[in-house]
This record gives sequence, C-alpha cells and structure tokens, in this order.
Amino acid sequence: MRLKNKKWARPFIDEHPDLILNETSFLQAISSETRPIYLEVGSGKGQFLLMMGAKQPEAIFFGVERAIPAIAVAGKKLREQELHNVKFVDADIESLLPSINDQSIAGIYLNFSDPWPKKHHEKRRLTHEKFLVQFMRILKVGALLKIKTDNDELFAFSQKNVEKLQYNIILSEYSYSTPASDDAMSEYEQNFRASNKMIHRLVIRKDK
Ligand SMILES: C[S@@+](CC[C@H](N)C(=O)[O-])C[C@H]1O[C@@H](n2cnc3c(N)ncnc32)[C@H](O)[C@@H]1O
Repeated sequence: MRLKNKKWARPFIDEHPDLILNETSFLQAISSETRPIYLEVGSGKGQFLLMMGAKQPEAIFFGVERAIPAIAVAGKKLREQELHNVKFVDADIESLLPSINDQSIAGIYLNFSDPWPKKHHEKRRLTHEKFLVQFMRILKVGALLKIKTDNDELFAFSQKNVEKLQYNIILSEYSYSTPASDDAMSEYEQNFRASNKMIHRLVIRKDK
C-alpha cells in the first residue's frame, strides 16, 4: 500500500500506544490475553479488521502493518469507532513472527498481500514457505489461515507452497464470488469487486 507520507502519522502513532502497539507491547498483550486472538498481516488502513471486530466482539483482532501512513489512518478510524477488541501493531511481520508463541493464535488473515511479481523478490511474498511455516507454527490446532488475492500468480504460488509443505487446504476458490458471512471486505477487495476483478481464496487448516 503506497500512501503519501503523512507528517502527522508518526506523532499520532506515538501518542496512541493503546490503539497502535509496538512489538513489545503486542507480545505483552497476547501473553495475557484470554479471548481468541486473530491476526491480519498487512492490515493497510484497517477496514477489514474494524468490520471483523464489530462482528465478533468475543474475540480480539490485531492488524500487523509496517507502512506508517496506512497504520496511522487505521488508528484514526479505530479511535473514532471505539472498538475495544481491535488493535494495530506497528511492525514488520518478519521480525515479529519468531517471538510469537507456538499455537497461540486462533486465526490468520492475509488479504490482498503485495504480489512482489519479480522472481528475485519472491522471498518477500507473505505466502513464501518461510512465512507459511511460521504462520502454521503459531496457529492453534484446528485454526485457519485465510488468504484472499486478486493476483493469479500469487494465488498459484501460495497454493503450490502450501501443497509442498503438505498443509491441509480445505477450500480453494478461483472465483470467490459471494463473500461468506464470517468474512469482511478489505479496502482492496471492495475496490477490486467494484471493478469486477475476480477474487481468489484459499483456506488452510492446521491439523496437527
Ligand atoms: C496491497 S496492501 C493490502 C491492504 C489490505 N489488506 C487490504 O486488503 O485492503 C498490502 C499491505 O501489506 C503491508 N505489508 C506488506 N508486507 C508486510 C510485512 N512484512 N509486515 C507488515 N505489513 C506488510 C503493506 O505495507 C500494505 O499495507
């Protein structure tokens, strides 16, 4: 998500540590959390997570986002909505993942992750094997990793890696036409659907 730099963004993040956590406060928060914990990785301006938080008040949702202007916009929306079960985390998932405990997360969402089309950038894709292994490690047994993308190459790359690692794909939809009732539309999804782009979806369950 390329947003123009916003002068107010970093000061806003620093002034709202209750809405936008840093790595340390996120790890502290999840260590004492009793509600089911869901993560969205690359939460952008927060639309998906704010809708999920409103839909499922019994759970807590964390959106990990490394782009400062995007997470600041998300934080502003969160302040307006006063949802107490949504937080954003100012971090790169790559540095955060190793510190998250095994089997501590109830579900992970990857919505319209950056496709990084060049071959020499494939390690940056969030469905690269190195990320999938970590995502499956932190999920509880029976929990789901849900991936949506408009990008054909990223969809094929993700499916290939999941199969190679022998994780259980419980749903693979090339054309995800009607959003499920337990889902919400991210900003990218809303824009792609408005321009009639096809949305692809993969749902992977951690079985052991
Ligand atoms: C294409 S945008 C999609 C935003 C949102 N999920 C949506 O569907 O509207 C991808 C987002 O993932 C974030 N992102 C990419 N790699 C990341 C990483 N390693 N850690 C945290 N955020 C990341 C980007 O900064 C960007 O905001």
